[in-house]
Amino acid sequence: MTHDNRPLFAANWKMHKGPVATREFVAEFTSCYEPSEDRRVVVFPPSISVEAFRLAAVDRPDLGVGVQDVHAEAAGAHTGAISASMAVEAGAAWSLAGHSERRREFGDDDRLVSRKVQRVLASGLLPVVCVGETLEERDSGALTEVLERQVAAVLSAVEHKAHGDLTWAYEPVWAIGTGRTASPEDAAEAHAIVRNALAGGAGAALGKGATILYGGSVKPGNIKSLMEAPGVNGVLVGGASLEPGDFAAICKCPLG
Ligand code: 13P
Repeated sequence: MTHDNRPLFAANWKMHKGPVATREFVAEFTSCYEPSEDRRVVVFPPSISVEAFRLAAVDRPDLGVGVQDVHAEAAGAHTGAISASMAVEAGAAWSLAGHSERRREFGDDDRLVSRKVQRVLASGLLPVVCVGETLEERDSGALTEVLERQVAAVLSAVEHKAHGDLTWAYEPVWAIGTGRTASPEDAAEAHAIVRNALAGGAGAALGKGATILYGGSVKPGNIKSLMEAPGVNGVLVGGASLEPGDFAAICKCPLG
């Protein structure tokens, strides 16, 4: 796979928007966001809406779509779960892995996240691996240790030749859905820690070239300063991505 390192603007809809609301979003979003060669846009709807997104956006190949999670196994008796190959069949090209809400609510620990990333890669999807610290971890001075541990767990589970296929998202748990955004300085510091951990585990060139997104209360009003922070290669947007106009405004951020 050739590594595409254009800035990436991604929407994580979490548990919002079924197929009907997804079609409405695509109609409105495509009327206010034109294809742009210098950036990538990817939406992660609930898996039940992935096919609706792909069909509604059939004339917009510039808009990528992905799932928010897959099961670590290829198939089997796992009621309620979806597999990576089903996600591919529905039109997904991407999958999130290790989002803090999965880690907190569903017990996705480093080991399980790593197994999911392996499955995602084996099915041909591109993973966006989410890492980030809680407020307690930050306050106790464990920021570097937590990020290094989360990055190392995934790198050690993935063959070296696939390290370049990984996209990363730094999402401080205390900034998710709280309205409390990391300052551009906080984001730059954490992105540098993730990048160093990648350089240590995957090699200097991969560390330098990796796409690392920032996520946590990104809005039209703060996108520019976050995108200008050193080492920030894009964003993963929750709440503000549910409004087509707001997400379009974020995706249109001028690039320096
Ligand atoms: P918010 O933008 O709602 O803070 O969510 C961020 C997030 O968790 C994206 O994955």
